[in-house]
Amino acid sequence: MLFEPLKHPRLALQNRIVMAPLTRSRAIDNIPNSIMADYYGQRASAGLIITEGTSPSPDGLGYARIPGLFNAEHVAGWKLSTDVAHRGGAKIFIQLMHCGRVTGTANLPAGARTVGPTDEVLEGEMYTDVAGMQPHATPHALTEAEIPAVIAEYVSAAKLAIEAGFDGIELHAANGYLLEQFLNANINTRIDGYGGSAAARNRLVLETARACVAAIGADKVGIRVSPYGVFNGTGEFDGVAEQYIELAKGLSEIGLVYLHLVDHSAMGAPEVPAVFKAHLRAAFKGLFIASGGLEAASAEAILQAGKADLVAFGRPFISNPDLPRRMQQSLALAEPDANTFYTPGPVGYSDYPAAA
Ligand SMILES: Cc1cc2nc3c(=O)[nH]c(=O)nc-3n(C[C@H](O)[C@H](O)[C@H](O)COP(=O)(O)O)c2cc1C
Repeated sequence: MLFEPLKHPRLALQNRIVMAPLTRSRAIDNIPNSIMADYYGQRASAGLIITEGTSPSPDGLGYARIPGLFNAEHVAGWKLSTDVAHRGGAKIFIQLMHCGRVTGTANLPAGARTVGPTDEVLEGEMYTDVAGMQPHATPHALTEAEIPAVIAEYVSAAKLAIEAGFDGIELHAANGYLLEQFLNANINTRIDGYGGSAAARNRLVLETARACVAAIGADKVGIRVSPYGVFNGTGEFDGVAEQYIELAKGLSEIGLVYLHLVDHSAMGAPEVPAVFKAHLRAAFKGLFIASGGLEAASAEAILQAGKADLVAFGRPFISNPDLPRRMQQSLALAEPDANTFYTPGPVGYSDYPAAA
């Protein structure tokens, strides 16, 4: 099934293979550029490309050289990538990633500020180009009155995404960035309308999803979540399963086109229970994307068993630009070089060759 087109009324794809979102830190001054277009164009045999995490605002630019989507220069830069992705037959969604408290101050442009659900600092350090490793910045705890402006940043980025030629957006509500900072009870210790109960922790994500759907349409909005993840100070909490099932039901009512589940157990994170995955899928009426540690056989098995509609590959796409063909023809896969995951320039990025 992997190589069969997806003929879904809400999303038609040339195959069931998704390129997972991968931060690659090649956007000098946070502006998408032509080597990024080279890279995405080389990978356009995927059914769906989900771009690297891209900030909807200056405040969200937590990592060095991640792209933004909040001004005309970003739109023009991204058009290069959407054009080549479409020429190769792929659809392309942009992942909107506001890093929230996961940042080093030196990564933020002048005037931007670190924000989060509380003022608690994330342990550990962040790489910055100008000052090397820095402790994470102290976040400003967003007040209830400030939250509509944060949602408005996502809405503005969603509209710019359409202008830039994207087929849709993926809300990054996984891996400990701003939206998950609100979802996760270990981080969100607020006791107001946005914290203190499962429903209150889910509220920012649901409001953001609803606002983006109102702006660009439900068929153009997907979301990524990582319950049971441990990255960036997250981790399991009491009632995590019940909270995410409610979240999935809410997102389903809003009508999101897909729910993309992260399972990083192949990278050392805890297992995501199989029964939870089944309940999550059942709670959501749209398309379901499985990801994490997949290869052709395991991905095919997931599709055959009806456990997902689409399957995403991350690291294999870094070093195999023609991954769908290699999987279909059982060609050897190249291993990615982790030393160049986040370094600037084309080396270890747009110079991985296609198979002969
Ligand atoms: C270099 C690198 C960058 C990543 N950047 C992102 C990102 O921007 N957004 C995101 O949701 N996940 C990100 N991930 C996680 C991947 O999307 C994926 O979930 C993970 O690599 C597991 O899938 P895999 O085993 O197929 O690689 C990143 C992973 C890697 C290795």
